[in-house]
Amino acid sequence: MNTKKDKLVIFDTTLRDGEQSPGASMTKEEKVRIATMLERMKVDVIEAGFAIASQGDFEAVQAVAETVKDSTVCSLARAVGPDILRAAEALKKANSGRIHTFIATSPIHMKYKLQMEPEAVLQRAVEAVTTARRFTDDVEFSLEDGSRSEPEFMYRIIEAVIKAGARTINIPDTVGYGEPGEYGAMFRRVIESVPNSDLAIFSTHCHNDLGLAVANSLSAVMNGVRQVECTINGLGERAGNASLEEIVMAVRTRQDLYPVDTRIDASHIVPTSRLVSSITGFPVQPNKAIVGANAFAHESGIHQDGILKHRETYEIMRAEDVGWGNNRLVLGKHSGRAAVKARYEELGVTFADSAEFNVLFQRFKDLADKKHEIFDEDLQSLISGASEPV
Ligand code: KIV
Ligand code: ZN
Repeated sequence: MNTKKDKLVIFDTTLRDGEQSPGASMTKEEKVRIATMLERMKVDVIEAGFAIASQGDFEAVQAVAETVKDSTVCSLARAVGPDILRAAEALKKANSGRIHTFIATSPIHMKYKLQMEPEAVLQRAVEAVTTARRFTDDVEFSLEDGSRSEPEFMYRIIEAVIKAGARTINIPDTVGYGEPGEYGAMFRRVIESVPNSDLAIFSTHCHNDLGLAVANSLSAVMNGVRQVECTINGLGERAGNASLEEIVMAVRTRQDLYPVDTRIDASHIVPTSRLVSSITGFPVQPNKAIVGANAFAHESGIHQDGILKHRETYEIMRAEDVGWGNNRLVLGKHSGRAAVKARYEELGVTFADSAEFNVLFQRFKDLADKKHEIFDEDLQSLISGASEPV
């Protein structure tokens, strides 16, 4: 058995592509809270936003860059000077900052959206990477709609942007059109055909329009890709992006198959999923893999009997490894301070001192008098609805 594993870089774009999900926009403070959880989970790269998109997004990228120290913080930028300057400005205080610049390379996007000839697109890509390299050594280039682009054109543009200094090359399946065998084979051919491909890490970024985002991402990994772009709960444009928790746990659970491993601390997965769900207001479906309420629940008598005899009869992962508490406490009016505080900590909320917690605990008691059970969403809203900071 091959025990030597390559590192798989986990690039989380919940705060950028996830936020592009209609109705999922987040405030600066909410982005910082999610980013703090992602850092704790040991995500390698956090894409915090699209700095030029709005003043709010600029400030959010800036705030995440100032807060997060152990993960690389990234901003998206179109392949134009002002976008790149804005991204660089927002990332100024990052310990480790990445500029992620992109341009579409498929015939349909170049003709109708960009209204540019392929040669002009190639030139623009090189200029963008050259400009971004003035600010950081860590430049990622994405070929938007890559999975529908002409192979020969992709080889030329990739070779050129690597020469200009891009060190991560992302080929997204922007519209979720890819099929696992075909998408994986595309990466294999690109890596073999581009002469300087060994100077870059290749990256996958899949959308879920046909429900294949995770399968396509994993196929890319099987074919030489060493960065996966994904989001918590699969949040993202239209049908969403590849989900981080599914990718990480697939690679970890099937170590016999995948030649890679991540440095993710999976015990933070469920709390982070809950935080993202409560902040965005997007519920997690009960049967969602890994983070759905039923993901580790056993209902049928035969299954329960099997589990009682040996857990692995019906469990391929351990619930506690991904952050489901063994003895999950139900919070209500009889709950004490310790249980409430512990649950807040699981949700990534910490308190400066006991006075700060006391204010919140009183609000909790008031609400518990009116409701049978207090859910994580209630705990979150006690914070958001606070008239003074808690
Ligand atoms: O889906 C996509 O192509 C993107 C790029 C901007 C990376 O989100
Ligand atoms: Zn995307």
